[in-house]
Amino acid sequence: MSKILVTSALPYANGDIHIGHLVEYIQTDIFVRFQRLIGRDVIYVCASDAHGTPIEINAAKKGITPEELVKHFHQRHKNDFARFEVDFDEFYTTDSPENRRHCEAIYLAAKEKGHIASREIEQSYCEQCGRFLPDRFIRGTCPKCGALDQYGDVCEVCSGTYQPTDLVDPRCAICGSQPTVRRSKHYFFRLDDFRDFLVKWAAEPGRLQEEAHAFVRSWIDQGLQDWDISRDGPYFGFKIPGEEDKFFYVWVDAPIGYIAATEHYCNTRGDCSVEEYWIHSNSDAEIHHFIGKDIAYFHILFWPAMLRAADYRTPTAVHVHGFLTVDGRKMSKSRGTFITARQFAEFIPPWCLRYYYATKLGNSIDDLDLNADEFVTRINAELVNNITNLVSRTFGFLNKRLDSRIGAIPDDARELIPEVLAAVDRARAHYLDFRFGQATREVLVITDLANNYIQQSQPWSAIKADPERARDILTFAVNCIKVAAVLLKPILPSYSRRLEELLGCGDLMWCDAVFNLERSEIGLFEKLMDRLEPGAFDKLIEASRGSLAALQAVSELPPFSTEEITIEEFAKMDLRVGKIVAAHDVEGADKLLKLEVDLGHEVRTIFAGIKKTYSPEQLLGRTVAVIANLKPRKMKFGTSHGMVLAGVGPDGSVTLCELAPTAQPGSQIR
Ligand code: 2FM
Ligand code: ZN
Repeated sequence: MSKILVTSALPYANGDIHIGHLVEYIQTDIFVRFQRLIGRDVIYVCASDAHGTPIEINAAKKGITPEELVKHFHQRHKNDFARFEVDFDEFYTTDSPENRRHCEAIYLAAKEKGHIASREIEQSYCEQCGRFLPDRFIRGTCPKCGALDQYGDVCEVCSGTYQPTDLVDPRCAICGSQPTVRRSKHYFFRLDDFRDFLVKWAAEPGRLQEEAHAFVRSWIDQGLQDWDISRDGPYFGFKIPGEEDKFFYVWVDAPIGYIAATEHYCNTRGDCSVEEYWIHSNSDAEIHHFIGKDIAYFHILFWPAMLRAADYRTPTAVHVHGFLTVDGRKMSKSRGTFITARQFAEFIPPWCLRYYYATKLGNSIDDLDLNADEFVTRINAELVNNITNLVSRTFGFLNKRLDSRIGAIPDDARELIPEVLAAVDRARAHYLDFRFGQATREVLVITDLANNYIQQSQPWSAIKADPERARDILTFAVNCIKVAAVLLKPILPSYSRRLEELLGCGDLMWCDAVFNLERSEIGLFEKLMDRLEPGAFDKLIEASRGSLAALQAVSELPPFSTEEITIEEFAKMDLRVGKIVAAHDVEGADKLLKLEVDLGHEVRTIFAGIKKTYSPEQLLGRTVAVIANLKPRKMKFGTSHGMVLAGVGPDGSVTLCELAPTAQPGSQIR
C-alpha cells in the first residue's frame, strides 16, 4: 500500500484559530485517523503561514519583529489544535530554511524553462510609510456605489470590484495619507503555459469534487492570466534570487511550505524522505490537500502548475469544503459568533465540536451551518443520551452487579450481529467517501440496536433468576460498544480511548469492529461526559462578544517603544508605596482628582487623571505605586508632587496599580 501525505491549509500566524478554521482541521484529522485505523501509512503535516504584509504590519504595530509575532501565534495555534485533538505529525513554519530552498528551486526551475516573465507595473505607494500598498491596505470611497471606507479591490457594500487606483479619495490604511502611484518591476508566473496540463490534471478521476472541477473549467475558459509572484520591500518573506529588494509573494511560499514541512518531518522524526513524497516523478505516495473554497484558486491552478513547472510531483487530490455559518449567517464579531477555539473550549468540551462537525460533513463544498440550538440538542440526544448512556448503563450494571466480568454473546443477540456488521461496512464506505456525517448515523444504528436489545431483554429483571443470562445480555452490548468505539475513533479519539480502557482491549483497529469479546474482565466505569445546559451555546456567544470587544481594544493600543533604557536610567526613578489618605474632586476638571498620598515621611498632593473610573470615596485607603521624584508640575488647578501609576486602556479607562495593603507607605518598589 502506498504512503499517504495529508495537509490542511497553513494558518496565518496573525490571529487566533476560530471555529471556522476548525471545520477544516477537524475534517482533515478525521480523514487521517480513519486512514490510520484501516492500516494505511499516513502522515499529517501543517505549518504556520508566516510571511506577507499583514503579519509584517501587525508586528510593527505591536513593536515586535515579525518573527516574534509568528512565534507567538505558532505556539498558540499548537495549543489550540492539541485541545481539539487535531494531531499533526508535523506543525512547522513557512519561514524555514527548507522552505526557502524549495522556493528558490521551484522559481529557478520555472525561470529556466521560460515560465517566468517580468515587466513594470503601476501600483499604489505610500510616501509616508515608504511602501507599496497591497489592495487590502488602501481604503477609500467605492467608485461604484459611493460607500465610504472600502478596500482597494472590492466594496463590501455593493460587492463591486475595481482597481485600487479607481477608488475615490484613496487613503493608506496604515497612516491615512494619500497614496501616489509608482512603477516597479514585478515577476510573473505564466500560468497559461500550463493550460493543457491543468485541463487534464483536473479531470483525473478522484482528483477534485465535481463542483471544484467545474470551477477549474470556468477559470480556464475565462483565460489564464499571468500571476504576479513578486512584492517590493519592505516585505516579510523570501528574497527573489538575483534581486535586492524583491520578495516572493506569500502565496508562492505558502503551499511550498507543505513540502518544507514534509522534509522537516522526514529529517527529524520519520523514516521517510521528502523525495519519496514530492520529488520523484514516479512517487506512488498519495498527497491529499484539504482546503476551503476561498483558496481553491491557489491550490487547483497555481499550485499544480508551479509543481509541474519545476518537475516536482503534483497532488493526488484536493478536497474543498465550504465556509462555516453560525445560525445561518456569516460569523460575525459583533454578533458574537466569531468564536475562537480557546473560547469554545472554555465553555464546551472540544470533542463535542468534533462530533457536531462530523455529523455535518459530507463530500460537498456547500457551506456548513452551526446552529446553536441544534448543536446542544444533537450533542445531548446522540452523544449523551444514546451513545454515552449505553456505555454507562452497560458498564455500570456489570461493575455493580456482575463483578465486572462479561460472559458469552447469547443466541438471540447473535441474530443481530449481521445488522451491526452491515452498518460497519456502510460506515467504512462513508468514511472512504468523506461522508463523515453518514458514518455517524451508522454509529447510532449500532448503539440504538444495543439500547433496544437491552430494553427488551431486561437484564435488571433477568438477574434475579439467572445472573448469567443478564451477564450475556450485557456481553452483547459490550461488543456493540467496542464496534461503536472503532467507528467513532476518527471523530472522538480521546473519548474512544476511554472506551478502549473500559473494554480492556488495547488500541483498536478497524478490523476489531467484530464480535469477539467474551469471558473477560472490563474496567471500572467513570462518567464520560455531562449533558450540555440548554443555554450552553448562547453563553459562549455572549462571552465571545464581550471578549472580542476587549481584544479589539487591545489591538488599538499604542505600539511598544523600541527605545531601550538602561538599568541605570530605570534606577533614577524613585518608585514608592503610597497610601491615599484623601481624595477630592477638582472644580472645572473633568478628568482630574486631587489626591493626598501618604509616603511615610510626608503627605504629598498629587493630581491624577482617574476621575472617569474612580470616585473620591472609592480611593480612600488604597495602597498605590507612586513616582516620588518626578519634578513637581504646575497645573491649572495646583501643583502635582509626583504621579500615581495606573494601567491605561485604549478607551482611556484606568486601573490603579495597587499594592497589597500590608505594604508600608514610603517603602521602595523595585
Ligand atoms: O488562507 C489562508 O489562511 C492561508 N494562510 C492558507 C495557506 S494554505 C497553503 F497554501 F499554504
Ligand atoms: Zn501610509
